[in-house]
Amino acid sequence: MNKLIVAPSILSADFTDLQGALAMIEKSEADWVHLDVMDGHFVPPISFGTKMVSDFRKRCKLPLDVHLMVEQPERMVVDFAEAGADLITFHAEACVHMHRTVEAIHSSGKSAGISIVPSTPISSVVEILPFVDLVLVMTVNPGYGGQKLLEFCLRKVQQLQDLRRSMKLSFKISIDGGVSARTMPLIVPVRPDVLVMGSAFFESPDPVALVQDMQAAFATSPVC
Ligand code: DX5
Ligand code: ZN
Repeated sequence: MNKLIVAPSILSADFTDLQGALAMIEKSEADWVHLDVMDGHFVPPISFGTKMVSDFRKRCKLPLDVHLMVEQPERMVVDFAEAGADLITFHAEACVHMHRTVEAIHSSGKSAGISIVPSTPISSVVEILPFVDLVLVMTVNPGYGGQKLLEFCLRKVQQLQDLRRSMKLSFKISIDGGVSARTMPLIVPVRPDVLVMGSAFFESPDPVALVQDMQAAFATSPVC
């Protein structure tokens, strides 16, 4: 059984103390750092761009998991690769030529992910599954931290598990939005490979114990 990957999202960190945020992520023994890029078009807020990724790259040894919530991601995937992202995930809803964009990411030597918002069905990404390294299932409508997990989206994790098996593929399945100790009982049975976690991590009085508890919940629950 593969170990659960926990990816704290710095969107919920105090942006005046990113060094402290990174130190907390490293102390917690989380696995990846999740960086949410928002362009003010695909989602209303604007967060940050390549400079943030390259600054994290200089100080951080953990894999950088860049989540592009931007229109026309194909215009910027190479820039994010050069900035030091390890995995670049873009939205199916924002990109007509998904296959070309995945190829551009791979040509830059990076892993490629595809993401879907809650109202997008798995069927819209089936053709791209053989080419991606990760599928990011949004479990909230993207744009903001601290929202409530939309339970109906978890069905998509199960659908992806089935497709991965039947198509003999090995992409990882990640979920993003509303992940917390409180929602773990809903999440554990569908067994995503990666949990992105923003507000629950940075608002926790003990992020170290939180990550440990999540790892333990996955390690001790039976695989269906
Ligand atoms: C939301 C972002 C998430 C966000 C998750 O659009 O993609 O990564 O940081 O935050 P929480 O865990 O607070 O829902
Ligand atoms: Zn995200």
